[in-house]
Amino acid sequence: MGTVARKVAIITGASRGVGEGLVAGYRRLGYGVVATSRSIKESQDLDVVTVRGDIADPATARRVIRAGLDRFGRIDALVNNGGAIAAKSFTEYTSAEFEAVTSVNLNGFLRLTQLTVKQMLTYGGGHVVQIISSPSSHASWDVSSVLASLARGGLQSATKALAGEFACKGIRSNAVALGVIRNPMRPEAYNQTLAAMHPLGRLGEIDDIVDAVLYLENASFVTGATLHVDGGQSAGH
Ligand SMILES: NC(=O)c1ccc[n+]([C@@H]2O[C@H](COP(=O)([O-])OP(=O)(O)OC[C@H]3O[C@@H](n4cnc5c(N)ncnc54)[C@H](OP(=O)(O)O)[C@@H]3O)[C@@H](O)[C@H]2O)c1
Repeated sequence: MGTVARKVAIITGASRGVGEGLVAGYRRLGYGVVATSRSIKESQDLDVVTVRGDIADPATARRVIRAGLDRFGRIDALVNNGGAIAAKSFTEYTSAEFEAVTSVNLNGFLRLTQLTVKQMLTYGGGHVVQIISSPSSHASWDVSSVLASLARGGLQSATKALAGEFACKGIRSNAVALGVIRNPMRPEAYNQTLAAMHPLGRLGEIDDIVDAVLYLENASFVTGATLHVDGGQSAGH
């Protein structure tokens, strides 16, 4: 009798915050994990392989896929979590900032997702998740979000397009849209103000996002969806 191969997930932006939480979450599900970011350290866990690199660089995507196949022999899930967007008024963005945002969020998604989906097609299935921002799909007068809307709104539409194109091949694609999530890199002094921007009156926690992604991982009849984990922001202002 053959053995069932263990599933494998790639997590980008895995050195800290939500990405680090996702690595632990997928390990709890029993997945082998390929964790990547520019500064990620080697893991003590033999079932986590780490790859350092800028996700905007196509060479990083190739190394991530190679590492996953060499260590585990397959790829079943990808979470496009890595990225950063500075909130600024639209007229204040420099060309360099525009380049940086589009290259990390859009090129980063394109290169790695393309290679991952090609692999998934060879085993007849898989799941891709985009981590995006909730305000990018419902602009608000009190948050400057044009560049986030351009990058993450694009990813939200691409999530649906990917779902449609590959549903018949057993590949699902979903997005999780974040409100403001507690982050140790952010000064504590801002947290009260940020919490008040959510109808539920609190910041999101990393586990709120991990729970949402793992729900989608197991939700075999859900594709093309955006799950808003945003304390009610998307319900209206
Ligand atoms: N926290 C929030 O309130 C919030 C709200 C909406 C959306 N988001 C998005 O959700 C995701 C996770 O949020 P978070 O709070 O965990 O963010 P975070 O603490 O800033 O972590 C971002 C991760 O992305 C990696 N990264 C950034 N630029 C990269 C690049 N060019 N190449 C490769 N890796 C890169 C970072 O690692 P290295 O520095 O090692 O490369 C890090 O692991 C991010 O995309 C963020 O923009 C967050």
